[in-house]
Amino acid sequence: MSALKLGSRSRLRAILALGVVSLAAVQAQSDSLSVATPGRTTVDEEASIKDPNQECEPYYYEPIGKALASFPPIWETASILPEDGNALAKFASIQASIPDIAPKGTPEGNFDGLNYPADDPDCWWTNSKCGTPKAPGVPADISIMPEPRTLGYGFDDGPNCSHNAFYDYLASQKQTATMFYIGSNVMDWPLEAARAVKDGHEICVHSWSHHYMTALTNEVAFAELYYSVSVKVATGVTPTCWRPPFGDVDDRIRAIAAGLGLRTILWAYDSQDWQYGVTPGITTADVDKEYQSMVDDAKKGMFNNVGTMILAHELDDYTMGEAMKFYPMLKEAFDHIVPVAIGMNITQPYVESEIVMPNFAQYISLNKQLAVNLTTSSASSQPSPTLTRSVVGPASTTTAPVNNDAANNKKTADASRLSWVLSGTGGVKFVVAFLLGFLCAARIGVVSQ
Ligand SMILES: *[C@@H]1O[C@H](CO)[C@@H](O)[C@H](O)[C@H]1NC(C)=O
Ligand SMILES: *[C@@H]1O[C@H](CO)[C@@H](O)[C@H](O)[C@H]1NC(C)=O
Ligand SMILES: *[C@@H]1O[C@H](CO)[C@@H](O)[C@H](O)[C@H]1NC(C)=O
Ligand SMILES: [Zn+2]
Repeated sequence: MSALKLGSRSRLRAILALGVVSLAAVQAQSDSLSVATPGRTTVDEEASIKDPNQECEPYYYEPIGKALASFPPIWETASILPEDGNALAKFASIQASIPDIAPKGTPEGNFDGLNYPADDPDCWWTNSKCGTPKAPGVPADISIMPEPRTLGYGFDDGPNCSHNAFYDYLASQKQTATMFYIGSNVMDWPLEAARAVKDGHEICVHSWSHHYMTALTNEVAFAELYYSVSVKVATGVTPTCWRPPFGDVDDRIRAIAAGLGLRTILWAYDSQDWQYGVTPGITTADVDKEYQSMVDDAKKGMFNNVGTMILAHELDDYTMGEAMKFYPMLKEAFDHIVPVAIGMNITQPYVESEIVMPNFAQYISLNKQLAVNLTTSSASSQPSPTLTRSVVGPASTTTAPVNNDAANNKKTADASRLSWVLSGTGGVKFVVAFLLGFLCAARIGVVSQ
């Protein structure tokens, strides 16, 4: 690793540590709340808040309040809770698939003095950007989009408490993305996470407390993923994909993720947006240059055979602002901008099999059709919620995602009402489900314009 890299990382660590402390303060405050916060009890209420300061006020949300005891402390490195029989059993069941590789460095990313062989035996991404595992049976990372002129679009480190302006923007553009959520952020901002599902974004996880995963023991790495996947309590869905914080993954960590049913997703272009305000000397011009280099490569035809994937962040207003600034340029440079699952034809993105997404071809064709219909129809012909519901209505088979937490049922129903929740299979249902997502996005777009 270069000295430069380590230098900027240690600065990032300092900032992250500050963030963790302030988040802990926020959390202590919200823990002291124990009744529902008025105006913050549903996804719609939360999504309607436009003042960023108000958005970032801690609030009590009952399903999370009730579930706190089943999760590790928020923003602390996770470990398996002693009474958690399900977690212990799951961990025991994947032992045989975990390669015998020792942890590396510290959870803060200090790899000083590590004597790691030059031939990269562990396929350690941090060392060599290796993404094709050497250990038998470990699935390869996904870091590009196989479809030509296609961009895999995603954001790490959310949900950020003040993300409504950004999510409103994406909805107005009828654009969905893959959101790589930190478990602790989901616990702090559960309705913000639920909004992503409702808006039709794909949710993947990004660990519980955002540490360097290769430094953690098998059990701790497992817990970091296990409890971030359990954010179903907020979103109603169980993700099947993850992105390692800092890209720090090797075959041991990949195997643990695969044991939990998680695809490992990296990236091909780093916008470096997170460095602004963290690494001294990094300016907006530097971040713009990174975005621009991908745009230029696209225009040069570099993705005419195989698409690519970008790393960008939902970290704060700055990184989300950069994303909005560059979105029109990305639209112009690429034929298709898609969530990762869409680009991979993964039509069942969650454990809950009743939730379906369109495949790539369906997404593209509906996207085009809808764009035409929206430009040729007047505002008065915008679909109403009643219409949306009546389309779903006859499907009395429509079900909310499986959820054992009765207290969460109301929220789950809410989160799933307009998302792609259908039972059964078949092209028609895929299409109807997808259309609903779009209608929803279109409605939000109209409201926000
Ligand atoms: C979210 O973004 C706001 C505005 O940039 C920032 O002040 C805040 O620290 C961020 N919060 C989290 C939880 O990341
Ligand atoms: C997605 O499915 C289409 C057929 O519908 C196929 O042509 C394409 O190669 C698939 N792409 C991937 C990445 O699997
Ligand atoms: C667009 O309009 C046509 C004709 O009215 C209709 O058949 C089609 O379903 C519409 N497509 C979408 C995506 O709304
Ligand atoms: Zn991250």
